[in-house]
Amino acid sequence: MKFFIDTADLNDIEEAASWGILSGVTTNPSLYARTGGKLADFEDHMVKICKIVGEDIPVSAESTAETTEDMIAEGVRLAALAPNIVVKLPICEASLPATHELAKRGVRVNMTLIFSATQALLAARAGARYISPFVGRFDDIADDGLAQLETIVDAVKNYDYGYWEQEGGPEIITASVRTPNHVTQAALMAADIATVPFAALKKCVHHPLTDKGLEGFAADWAKVVAQA
Ligand code: E4P
Repeated sequence: MKFFIDTADLNDIEEAASWGILSGVTTNPSLYARTGGKLADFEDHMVKICKIVGEDIPVSAESTAETTEDMIAEGVRLAALAPNIVVKLPICEASLPATHELAKRGVRVNMTLIFSATQALLAARAGARYISPFVGRFDDIADDGLAQLETIVDAVKNYDYGYWEQEGGPEIITASVRTPNHVTQAALMAADIATVPFAALKKCVHHPLTDKGLEGFAADWAKVVAQA
């Protein structure tokens, strides 16, 4: 299981990168808006993220174009910003041919807003390097996001797609992660990646018994020190 961070916040990315566990960054228009970022600064912001994490770490920058032509043009422009940029496109009729064309040009696409196995299979067939099924948003509507993820992983892993094989792609990014249990269950299903918001990533580090154990060790060590 690889850990990506799901944020556009530079401080959070810097801190998560310092942990030595980070294999990627995903952003989306809502996450960028949350930073207070302006339209004119969007591309510079993506470049800053790329510089923080280094050029071996993929950074997904989402296109907001609505036609195939515009998606290709924006995808090519975004990919030229840094070698580690991955172009994020939402699944739709317009984005499938855009993904196919970008893949032919060697541009990696992360196909997002995936909620079904057929969407994921089409994304893989079009040439997406990454496929991002959302878990938490299913849970939000009282559906079972993890069961949906399992169906998608099983269906996609049944086939070879002829794109990105030398890089181990297409890889499945478990997205819309809310809890450490989402990460654990995704790993048990052999989903390749989990992209995790920083708050949920911190929860993955902690456990109440670890905290209690640390308190106990500290208290007992204080007794040893007091006797010295
Ligand atoms: C995927 O890459 C998206 O950025 C993200 O995981 C969406 O999650 P949300 O449901 O928390 O908005």
